[in-house]
Amino acid sequence: MNSILILFAHPKFEQSRTNKMLVGEIEKMKGVTFHDLYEHYPDFHINISFEKELLAQHDIVVWHHPMYWYSCPPLMKQWIDLVLEYNWAYGPDGKALLNKKCLNVITTGGSRELYCSEGSNHYSVNEFLRPFEQTARLCGMQYLPPFAIMGTHRLSDDELLDMGRQYAQMLQFLQDDCSPQAMKDCSMLNDLEQLNT
Ligand SMILES: Cc1cc2nc3c(=O)[nH]c(=O)nc-3n(C[C@H](O)[C@H](O)[C@H](O)COP(=O)(O)O)c2cc1C
Repeated sequence: MNSILILFAHPKFEQSRTNKMLVGEIEKMKGVTFHDLYEHYPDFHINISFEKELLAQHDIVVWHHPMYWYSCPPLMKQWIDLVLEYNWAYGPDGKALLNKKCLNVITTGGSRELYCSEGSNHYSVNEFLRPFEQTARLCGMQYLPPFAIMGTHRLSDDELLDMGRQYAQMLQFLQDDCSPQAMKDCSMLNDLEQLNT
């Protein structure tokens, strides 16, 4: 079974509706380590050696965050800037993350229809997530399609609960089978056959 590390960043989790629901469905899953960055580091002083140790213990790394201004909240960026060190994560001697898998789980106010060339956001979420994709690649990780909960403001509590269950199913799928074959034709993991049958 693949072990999963969820790095979660939400600056106002106490006011969250969507992510509270999602986290409630996955934080206690077996084989999943849920790590709330804002809870651990409210002062932004990240314990780099602890974070590296956590990474070493897991096969799959999830960057889970609400989309803020087409990117991630600042502590997630701080984590990337400080933890992914030269000659540890990348560079000639940087092999610590080689062959691990990595993906974004995001929530967006805008709906999926708005994230395309004809929509008001002009680009797809995959395009907005390119810097994460390339960061993962530079570190020798395989970047997987994102899982996105979109149009959050319009989702009912029941729909949100359903998305939380799909998130848990998606993680279960990654624990059991992370082969590229299973994900082919999925621009987002929401489109996995296993979640839609
Ligand atoms: C500072 C800020 C920036 C945001 N930027 C975006 C954005 O770029 N695109 C988008 O679709 N939604 C954006 N939103 C909406 C949030 O993504 C959305 O409210 C959040 O994912 C809902 O999750 P929550 O209930 O857990 O907070 C933004 C919200 C805030 C507060």
